[in-house]
Amino acid sequence: MKHYTLKNGDQFPAIGLGTWKSRPGEVKEAVIHAIKSGYRHIDCAAIYMNEKEIGEAFRYCFENNIVKREELWITSKLWNNAHLRDDVRPAIKNTLADLQLDYLDLYIIHWPVAFKPEKLNAPNAEDYLSLEEAPIIETWRGMEEIQSVGLAKHIGVSNFSIKKLDDLYSKATYKPEVNQVELHPYLQQKELFDYCSQKNIILTGYSPLGSGDRSEGMKKDDEPSLLENKTINKVANKHNASPAQVLISWHVHRGNVVIPKSTNPSRIEQNLASIALQLDDEDLKTIESLDRHYRYVDGRFFVKEGNSYSNIYDE
Ligand code: A2P
Repeated sequence: MKHYTLKNGDQFPAIGLGTWKSRPGEVKEAVIHAIKSGYRHIDCAAIYMNEKEIGEAFRYCFENNIVKREELWITSKLWNNAHLRDDVRPAIKNTLADLQLDYLDLYIIHWPVAFKPEKLNAPNAEDYLSLEEAPIIETWRGMEEIQSVGLAKHIGVSNFSIKKLDDLYSKATYKPEVNQVELHPYLQQKELFDYCSQKNIILTGYSPLGSGDRSEGMKKDDEPSLLENKTINKVANKHNASPAQVLISWHVHRGNVVIPKSTNPSRIEQNLASIALQLDDEDLKTIESLDRHYRYVDGRFFVKEGNSYSNIYDE
């Protein structure tokens, strides 16, 4: 497996298993199958509401000597209702209890958006804390504290623009090491990629296959399909690979981490096997031409008249 080496020498595996939308009743078997197939990186989040079941999968794997804890890279995310500095430690403690772990390899701020602590969802403007009430740097101080006591080995962010990341970077004592964002050939985010490379921040791409299993409410009528894209399919046929493998391999060639989600055993294996696919310069050039700045997960659902979050992406 290709890895990226972090400042302290830890190795961050380039392909991980995504667990957003992985249903309870399916996710335990999926995680066990992934680990048995060779995955060493599992991406989780409290808000996916499946961490307890993923914790059972980890325990099964450790008890049956399928893998050792230190061989796995496990990420989780701080939900929007725990942005107050003193709420960060209880939030990671809950996640650790659910996942049955003593530490995370990586803990990241899920969105640059704060909800009131009692709100899991925030449909109305009054469900949010303002940026004055919950400044991102204060949330970050909470993240630095949990890193300094060893609850997370690395800390980072998700869904941060260059502007937000740069502001945080300039104020942070422990610098963010990762930014997890939506990333695929329709949303290549070149400037963000270059910024992160300069600052030694590893970019992780979510929704690499277009997240076709999102709820209908999250979908637009005329969404373009990545898996059915003609160019992607042409490249796949040329290499005797699947479209998903081309989409995953594109990240590996570019030098970022990628976390395709699947709960299907053969697709779980197929996605990891993308690591062996060698795209050539011509393939990469044609894939580059597909960029159209298209988001499948549009964080502008957090924009409510009167709250602080009118410019999620600073674009
Ligand atoms: P499934 O879990 O049944 O395999 P994303 O990672 O962009 O969120 O996309 C996840 C979606 O893509 C899920 O619907 C998942 O279905 C599907 N998927 C995962 N791997 C593949 C694959 N190799 N080929 C086709 N679809 C896939």
